[in-house]
Amino acid sequence: MNEIKMTQIRVEEQDKKNRQGQSPSFFIHTFGCQMNESDSEHIAGLLISQGWQKVELPEKSNLAIINTCAVRAKSVDKFLSLLGRLKEIKKKRDLKIAIVGCVAQLEGENLLKLRPEIDYIFGPDNYLEILKIINHQAKAVATNWSHQWREHPLTQIHRESQVSAYVPVMEGCNNFCTYCIVPFVRGREKYRPARMILEEIKRLADQGFLEVQLLGQSITSYHDPESGKPLAELLQEIAQIDGLIWIRFITSHPKNLSKEIAQVMATEKKICRQLHLPVQSGSNSILKKMNRGYTREEYLEKIAMLRELMPDISLSTDIIVGFPGETEKDFEATLRLLEEVRFSNIFSFRYSPRPLTAASRWVDDVPFEVKRRRLIDLQNQQKKIQLENNATLVGQIMNVLCIGRSQKTPHLYCGRNEAHQVINFASPIEVVNKMVKVKITSFGPYSLQGELVAE
Ligand code: SAH
Ligand code: SF4
Ligand code: F3S
Repeated sequence: MNEIKMTQIRVEEQDKKNRQGQSPSFFIHTFGCQMNESDSEHIAGLLISQGWQKVELPEKSNLAIINTCAVRAKSVDKFLSLLGRLKEIKKKRDLKIAIVGCVAQLEGENLLKLRPEIDYIFGPDNYLEILKIINHQAKAVATNWSHQWREHPLTQIHRESQVSAYVPVMEGCNNFCTYCIVPFVRGREKYRPARMILEEIKRLADQGFLEVQLLGQSITSYHDPESGKPLAELLQEIAQIDGLIWIRFITSHPKNLSKEIAQVMATEKKICRQLHLPVQSGSNSILKKMNRGYTREEYLEKIAMLRELMPDISLSTDIIVGFPGETEKDFEATLRLLEEVRFSNIFSFRYSPRPLTAASRWVDDVPFEVKRRRLIDLQNQQKKIQLENNATLVGQIMNVLCIGRSQKTPHLYCGRNEAHQVINFASPIEVVNKMVKVKITSFGPYSLQGELVAE
């Protein structure tokens, strides 16, 4: 067994040992995007390597951590509700509460003053200091920006999956879409050196990981801070690493999704033919007000370029309804765009004004009822498209990376195909964490069903 495998086993063994002994325990809950999920894996890894054990219930922990998201008012409400639960636990027993992530960065010390039950506040650039602070201080706030990439020790990551790994390649965002709080909570773009990214992915491949998901808030802006090479070249190099089967990257910005990136996707088999390309609106006047940096026509040209190179590519997007000034005509333009592109999946949201953003200074003039109705109309139209798309897949045999049991139907396994669609399937043998072949037998709008095909 090589040294890399040994290191990973040491992290897992450490976790087991911590559970058996009288080690202090921590609970962590994550809201928000994949970047937050990855950060939580880093935080958990740091704690475990210093003798802490991870528990699934805050009631059983000495330290409860909430990794927060500030992107919409609703995400903050969810955090406050969990904080309320932790406060009740703290009334009955000794518990330290740490708030990390984007709300922590946004509110900083204010949060500590407003909610005295909180002990620690850490922003996204301060996780490496967590151990030092919780071991030595009763209360603390750490929300300093770092202008350079801070490398996390690779041996101290507690990954939730044994086959699919998140690999951050950049952080922050320079785009300043007028509705979006991310640039204010994650700061300006910082790029991770390509040699470190490649080192981490080689280790993962050696450990038996089959899929990597490269992460960055605006990943198409990535370039190596040392050599200047762009994302397309990095992808090309990652695709040469033995052992890996699938490579994905999120989130791309339409304005700098280059032909080179599309060409690497088309030529390198390991790079999944799947792309999340947020459009936000189908109306040019709204796109302009959002400061998205492209028109509807330019977005559609990018889609055409992708489909010309990869007719079978699976595309998904994000949509906001009810942005200030959005008329019925603007909204209809978005509906038409969905009909034109026929995405495999969309994520849609009602506009929510966020502090510090440009749009928060404008009147939020689309009434809640109108936003609600537009969201329903949009989702219904998309549901119809997904049913039609999915119907064409029945009878096909596809590769599926099994990630566990289906939550709703535990007798079935659950996984994802190359297009990143959810597949629930029957199998007579145990297939968790394996890449298998599944024949699609039926479908719904949001998932496919199937059965294992013997090799
Ligand atoms: N970096 C990614 C994700 C940003 S947040 C990107 O650029 O796409 C994820 C999605 O949340 C966005 O794409 C957008 O659709 C939505 N979103 C962001 N701010 C929002 C707001 N103020 N109200 C409603 N939805 C918002
Ligand atoms: Fe937010 Fe726009 Fe940056 Fe995405 S590209 S994180 S929507 S500012
Ligand atoms: Fe939310 Fe922060 Fe991600 S605001 S979407 S957790 S970058």
